[in-house]
Amino acid sequence: MKIAILGGTGEQGPGLALRLAIAGEEVIIGSRNKERAEKVATELNAELGGTRIQGAENAQAAQAAEIVMMTVPYSAHLSTLEGVKAQVQGKIFVDVSVPLDPENPRRMKMPPAGSATEEAQEFLGPGTKVVAAFQNVAAHLLRDPKHAIDCDILVCGNDVEAKKTVISLIAKMGLKGYDVGTADSSRVVEGLTSILIRLNIRHKVKGAGIRLTGLPQ
Ligand SMILES: NC(=O)c1ccc[n+]([C@@H]2O[C@H](COP(=O)([O-])OP(=O)(O)OC[C@H]3O[C@@H](n4cnc5c(N)ncnc54)[C@H](OP(=O)(O)O)[C@@H]3O)[C@@H](O)[C@H]2O)c1
Repeated sequence: MKIAILGGTGEQGPGLALRLAIAGEEVIIGSRNKERAEKVATELNAELGGTRIQGAENAQAAQAAEIVMMTVPYSAHLSTLEGVKAQVQGKIFVDVSVPLDPENPRRMKMPPAGSATEEAQEFLGPGTKVVAAFQNVAAHLLRDPKHAIDCDILVCGNDVEAKKTVISLIAKMGLKGYDVGTADSSRVVEGLTSILIRLNIRHKVKGAGIRLTGLPQ
């Protein structure tokens, strides 16, 4: 499968790219700047010893991919969606965005739609299947694929089959994903990130995460 990661040049994108590439997927790092994307792709390929990761400008990455992920700061959420709206029609769109309050990242500043995920679904329209995932996992944990990550991935969205596809990708990445409901569940899932940030600060750690218990394996 070809998977694009828009804004994949930052903190969260490279770890997702590495784990997807190790799982055997083809990855296209997206960026506003093609050269920046190619540079990150080259670095990740050197680390992996392969050529599974390419770089491209965001819209081209979205066009070439079957599944499109987005890891940009919430401040760039709508503008980035606007640039790829045509390219993601008919595709699964995985939104990783968390609308933290820019003045205080311990708090959320939810958009009028309710959450970033609902905003993306509303903006992209019913032709794109928006799925929320990876909001509660820290970038540095994803970035170190030799180490298992001690947390679960909460997955939500309105299309059941799209969520199943994303959960099976998550399994290939060595993680356990759970379908936690429709797109409105993302109000809670995105909100949990601000709590994890509070816990990280309080306990002077970097990787607090969520683990579900009491469920059948
Ligand atoms: N970092 C984490 O541990 C973590 C954990 C869970 C969820 N998240 C969420 O994941 C998303 C990405 O986080 P991150 O830490 O990876 O962010 P980041 O490193 O600050 O930014 C990621 C990429 O977004 C692009 N970008 C930055 N500003 C932009 C703008 N104004 N317009 C368009 N593109 C812009 C940049 O790529 P180019 O300059 O190459 O275009 C940048 O490399 C956020 O919504 C965050 O809340 C992050």
